[in-house]
Amino acid sequence: MTSAILGTGKCLPKKIVTNDDLSQIVDTNDAWIRERTGIQTRHLATSETTETLSIEAAKQALEAAQIAPENLGLIIVATLTPDGSMPNTACKVQAAIGAKNAMCYEINAACSGFIYGLQTAHAFISSGILSYALIIGAETLSKIMDWKDRSTCVLFGDGAGAAVLGASEKGIICLDGGADGSKGGVLTCGNAPLCNPYTKHPASNPYVEMDGQEVFKFAVRKIPAIVNNLLEKTDHTIDDLSCILLHQANQRIIQSAAKRLHADLDIFPMNLDKYGNTSAASVAILLDEVARSGKLSKGDLIALAGFGGGLTWAGLLLEWV
Ligand code: COA
Repeated sequence: MTSAILGTGKCLPKKIVTNDDLSQIVDTNDAWIRERTGIQTRHLATSETTETLSIEAAKQALEAAQIAPENLGLIIVATLTPDGSMPNTACKVQAAIGAKNAMCYEINAACSGFIYGLQTAHAFISSGILSYALIIGAETLSKIMDWKDRSTCVLFGDGAGAAVLGASEKGIICLDGGADGSKGGVLTCGNAPLCNPYTKHPASNPYVEMDGQEVFKFAVRKIPAIVNNLLEKTDHTIDDLSCILLHQANQRIIQSAAKRLHADLDIFPMNLDKYGNTSAASVAILLDEVARSGKLSKGDLIALAGFGGGLTWAGLLLEWV
């Protein structure tokens, strides 16, 4: 017994912000952003929250899967931008959709979070502990951007994607992933310093800080390594894959991965031009768009791969059902 993706959903905030719009806020321009990243627009939350984006994506995924919410044994929300620390976002989704039998928690593995979530749910389902799980990747990253820092604020966007995973004869075949906490300093977002009557620490920068070139080098090495590990573990070759869904951070990272894997760029669907980098939501949103495009057929072999802060990375090989 394994687990398979039975339905997907997504939700993007209504407000679309162009590169030209951002050039009114920071010293940047459309040409620089397009050439260095491939990003043209991003959706930014104005009234939406991580909770509301999650709920809408979840409802779509349940409808597509045709699974009643009471059948869910687990809800995981992968996010680094919850609206608050308690209750967790998964509990809020549970209440909104009526999934009264589900355990609910968040995972923070930055941009690898949605795939980490799928892996965790797969472990529960394939071991027979539960039958159905809902995994959501959701972010309102715009609230942790330093809107004076042009090197980061142009890269990210808000949104959510969701998938229902269920017990199945065919589906997930192989997992890969890891972390290197020793490199965590290259991509950070402030923490909550100790502050009580006995100790006071200065507040740290609450916004995302990134050594872009170090993250770039990490990503272009790690993505091909994840995909090759998945293929080697299962005796497949790159030619067996119908598509590879990569974390949508930068078009140049995806082009480099395609080159290093000796794969046609056509098998790497992209939507970062529209949405920018939506961290934990990125692979989830892309999965939903590809699933709904009608381009996938039963039996297709698909790889998912992500990387991000931590540093973390994760991959999945699955057969489409
Ligand atoms: N608009 C215009 N100029 C900008 C700019 C912006 N938005 N952001 C940075 N610049 C400038 C820099 O100040 C620098 O100017 P200088 O040469 O006068 O100092 C110049 O552009 C080059 O900056 P650099 O950081 O070397 O650019 P780059 O080619 O490395 O591209 C990234 C920057 C961030 C696009 C790239 O490093 C990247 O994509 N890294 C990976 C990021 C990522 O994937 N993060 C998410 C991980 S999940």
